[in-house]
Amino acid sequence: MPSVRILPDQIANKIAAGEVVERPASVVKELMENALDAGARRIRLEVADGGRSRIRCTDDGCGMLRDDALLALERHATSKLRDLEALSAIATLGFRGEALPAIASVSHLELETAPGQPGAAAGPGTRVRVHAGKLLDVAEAGLPAGTSITVSNLFVNIPARKKFLKSEATELGHIVTLVTHYALAYPEVHFHLETPHRVLLAAPPVAGHAERLQQVLGEELLGQCVTFQDMAEWAPEPGPEGALDAEVGETGLGLFGFASRPEVHKLNRNSTFIFINRRLVRDRLLQHAISSAYYNLLPNGVFPAVLLFLDLPYGEVDVNVHPSKTEVRFRRQAFVHDTVRDTVREALSAARPMPSFPQERRARATASPLWTRPPSADPPSAGLPAAATEFHLREAPLPPQPQRLPLAAAPERTPAAAFAAPGFVPETGQGCGLREVPPAADPDADELALLRPLGQIRDSFIVAAGPGGLWLVDQHVAHERVLFEQFQAQRLRHAVESQRLLMPLVVELDPGRAAAFGELATELAAAGFEAEPFGRSTCAIHAAPAGIAAEQIERLLQEILQVAVLQERGLTLEAVRTRIAATIACHAAIKINMRLEPAKMEWLLARLAETQYPMTCPHGRPVLLRYSIEEIQRAFKRIH
Ligand SMILES: Nc1ncnc2c1ncn2[C@@H]1O[C@H](COP(=O)(O)OP(=O)(O)OP(=O)(O)O)[C@@H](O)[C@H]1O
Ligand SMILES: [Mg+2]
Repeated sequence: MPSVRILPDQIANKIAAGEVVERPASVVKELMENALDAGARRIRLEVADGGRSRIRCTDDGCGMLRDDALLALERHATSKLRDLEALSAIATLGFRGEALPAIASVSHLELETAPGQPGAAAGPGTRVRVHAGKLLDVAEAGLPAGTSITVSNLFVNIPARKKFLKSEATELGHIVTLVTHYALAYPEVHFHLETPHRVLLAAPPVAGHAERLQQVLGEELLGQCVTFQDMAEWAPEPGPEGALDAEVGETGLGLFGFASRPEVHKLNRNSTFIFINRRLVRDRLLQHAISSAYYNLLPNGVFPAVLLFLDLPYGEVDVNVHPSKTEVRFRRQAFVHDTVRDTVREALSAARPMPSFPQERRARATASPLWTRPPSADPPSAGLPAAATEFHLREAPLPPQPQRLPLAAAPERTPAAAFAAPGFVPETGQGCGLREVPPAADPDADELALLRPLGQIRDSFIVAAGPGGLWLVDQHVAHERVLFEQFQAQRLRHAVESQRLLMPLVVELDPGRAAAFGELATELAAAGFEAEPFGRSTCAIHAAPAGIAAEQIERLLQEILQVAVLQERGLTLEAVRTRIAATIACHAAIKINMRLEPAKMEWLLARLAETQYPMTCPHGRPVLLRYSIEEIQRAFKRIH
């Protein structure tokens, strides 16, 4: 029988490293977090070969004395957690005492550190070298106050892991993304990231998050986002005996951030970044809250870009639930979820953003992550094809191809050209080539009410003049939005209008839909249908929602029944209702290729102006495009 033994430290460290150190970016994350915990005001990162051969992180934080420096490389050695109680309210980014020994066990690590306070002379410096977990030497050294950690030959003793590393460009891309986002969370800290070939990020301290966003990701991006901010009081929570929670009301849930306007479309969730008490985390609950905020504003299968900062009492969130500290658990999940959803939704609604022509052009390019810079390699020439290809690949499958109108005056640089630009700092894909064009002033939402229709193009798009520019309105989706909101309001009041058919309409249903017909009976009735099963695979419709042409009724019902299939995939009842409403609105709306009288156009624009979200149809497609006066003047070369 094999005997049970405690693993030697070296093996234990290597196992821990498997969890802590996945790739070079994980090392950067741990080093950066340590520097931030040490109170650094300046963090300088140098990486070579995508971090695979060398990562150096230098900070001007509190530094360490010789004994602490040695201890820091031992497992479970930390200065950040004193007792068990502290574990339930963690205020620092690190707390396990795992990172340094884990990294040191799979690389060549050099730690140089000297204690010191800002402005005061540095204390005695120490240099420690560890090779694959073995202490090589410790020496005194004259060093500036702060800490510098150099990690070379990552995974020197784990060839399998090394093989799994991606290309230099990809690994560097991960590092850039990470550093950029930590920079966003700590605007008061000076971040610097460079490779032997170029500086990738140089971000001196700035006043706040908005300034930092502008500094590292570009002003244009700011224009594509709405800002949200809220401080929510904790909802009272009954204690075990029904008594109210003593902490309630002490400190609320602070949230702040940026959310992309609905016309910005991302192909995946990678453009959402969530910080909880300034810790970058992945959180499915909050991802869901964000998706709910955009519900019906974005087409299926596309995602927004969101930067969310949540601040809450340390005791309200457990950060000790994941080996790499990237997941958390909230004490009051539902409250946090709903607050985030409602705050973001309100901000989107209040801003009522409308795409102008340049924004449409940008929307095309934003198929790459909004907050991330596509990975590039250095030397630059090596990275270009990869970056450009990636950009292109992501761009192509965008579901709604935003219209691109040849009115634009400014030439657009290709993404590749933007990558080659000198002094390139991390910026967004959509920033490429459009920097020269100052974003047009935000269209005033109230301008919508003042639009004067001039005519139609191809009997499909209404051309309208407004005080601030020229507008194009997709007549079908505009009417869809109007009907959708009207229907939702009627549904709430249980006052959906219905039309009785002269003769019952008998509809054949396939087995899936026949089953769905039974399940959705109540919802169908609430939506204005009066229908009953008629044999095993047919139903008879006696009444249908008002406004639907007779020949459309059958297709409408068939489409709605499809919803039940989706419901099996976990749609909430509310979502099912919304889908039914959107389907009905779509069928009842004015079609394209339909001539409209001027009075009808006026009526449509006026109704649209009254809606809550006039800029997108219930399926998320844009309703309006605007060509501002400035853009017109610029196109005619009246201004520059
Ligand atoms: N840049 C630094 N400046 C000052 N002290 C540091 C620095 N990096 C590490 N330390 C010290 O070394 C200790 C060990 O660091 P390590 O990252 O291994 O653990 P931790 O940060 O406490 O927890 P975690 O494993 O969760 O990151 C820290 O608690 C801190 O006291
Ligand atoms: Mg740490």
